[in-house]
Amino acid sequence: MKQAALLTYGCQMNKYDSEVISGILTENSFAMTDDISHADVILLNTCSIREKAEQKVFSQIGRLRPLKEKNPGLIIGVGGCVGQLQGEQILKKAPLVDLVFGTSNAYRLPELIEQIEESGVRIADVEEEVARSEFSAHIKREGTVHAWVSILRGCSNYCTYCVVPYARGEEKSRNPGDILSEICHLIEKGYKEVTLLGQNVNSYGNDLGKETDFPALLEQVNSVKGLERIRFVTSHPRDFTDRLIDAMASLEKVCESLHLPVQAGSDRVLEKMNRGYGISGYMDKLERVRGRIKNLSVTTDIIVRFPGESEADFFKTRDLVKSTRFDSLFLFKYSKRPETPAASYEDQVMDREKQKRFEEILELQKGISTEINRSYEGKKMEVLVEGKSRTDSGKMTGRTRMNKIVNFSFSVQPQVGSLVQVNILRGKVYGLEGTYYG
Ligand code: 5AD
Ligand code: SF4
Repeated sequence: MKQAALLTYGCQMNKYDSEVISGILTENSFAMTDDISHADVILLNTCSIREKAEQKVFSQIGRLRPLKEKNPGLIIGVGGCVGQLQGEQILKKAPLVDLVFGTSNAYRLPELIEQIEESGVRIADVEEEVARSEFSAHIKREGTVHAWVSILRGCSNYCTYCVVPYARGEEKSRNPGDILSEICHLIEKGYKEVTLLGQNVNSYGNDLGKETDFPALLEQVNSVKGLERIRFVTSHPRDFTDRLIDAMASLEKVCESLHLPVQAGSDRVLEKMNRGYGISGYMDKLERVRGRIKNLSVTTDIIVRFPGESEADFFKTRDLVKSTRFDSLFLFKYSKRPETPAASYEDQVMDREKQKRFEEILELQKGISTEINRSYEGKKMEVLVEGKSRTDSGKMTGRTRMNKIVNFSFSVQPQVGSLVQVNILRGKVYGLEGTYYG
């Protein structure tokens, strides 16, 4: 059996795609391995959301040189967003690479690898064909309790800084029947929790005519027997509706956690980002959803030093972070991406000049996250047990409905996949610690 290694970079969608790629390769008589030194094929599933992510790919390719020299038959492939965006150029730029594939043609990998083996000719194939590349039967999942389920791919929002619409194409919703049957299969295998995945789940169904929308899909998923919890990412604030708030509040499996990326605290910047909302609209929606759902945890994404972000704009972001009290946030320094509109905006600064603003928000948020997590000390919380803790093998780990990671000791070891009540002893910056008495 040929051995294939897959190195994955970037977002959750890429991780999901890697599960699909592993499934496709396994079905076509490859064995997946973590040991790149013995692999016959090494594939890189890459990310290009920020410049650094892209640089990482090319330095990783460089590090594979000794393996290729030792084994000239080794096939090195680059796929995912960098593959899709740069296509054939990669073959010119990186002589070690034999194969370039894209974000939606993974199903062709076995055939492409065979062609290269037979002909010795390097190939770039980034032709898009979404439907066949996310066929659920192919997925070889990482976890055993929680699963990611893609509901729509691509993005049609064209935020001016973002490369996703170019790397993953326009929004394409999966049909509800396929999604539901995938979830039913997961339940049969013992999964308890799903996260519905899309760049903007709120526009789910827009391209399927008037048949369905995201709240309707949530309702259908909520009725799947045996499923305990439903999460979803990502929600675009512009498309976050009262209808969705109603669904979140009334469907008992939908967890009390929401990822609602605000990106910036200044209307002027949001407009230049083409986000389609202002801060008062964002806060209004947040207030409404927080009013309806007790204990809702809210996380966000923020970009600092977008081109033209003045100090006054930045203070607005800082004030928003202070007053909104997100449970946690993903913070990014603006990264100029080729071909995006913002790349040609004026007032772009060097990376080190973004650092101060980055650190200021990071420190502020660390304090807020710690305070929020400490407020759970002394409480009992329902945890879905996922397995052994990565940091301490004497402990177990799982998540609360609010998506807080809990590492806990136990007197009686609970079963993986069970729901248990854990006594929270300590709130830390990135999660909780507790104990389970059985
Ligand atoms: N620079 C910095 N951050 C970016 N993001 C997307 N594109 C860029 C970029 N060019 C961030 C956004 C998005 C998250 C997934 O990545 O905050 O929500
Ligand atoms: Fe990128 Fe905006 Fe689409 Fe998110 S919504 S993937 S930030 S273009």
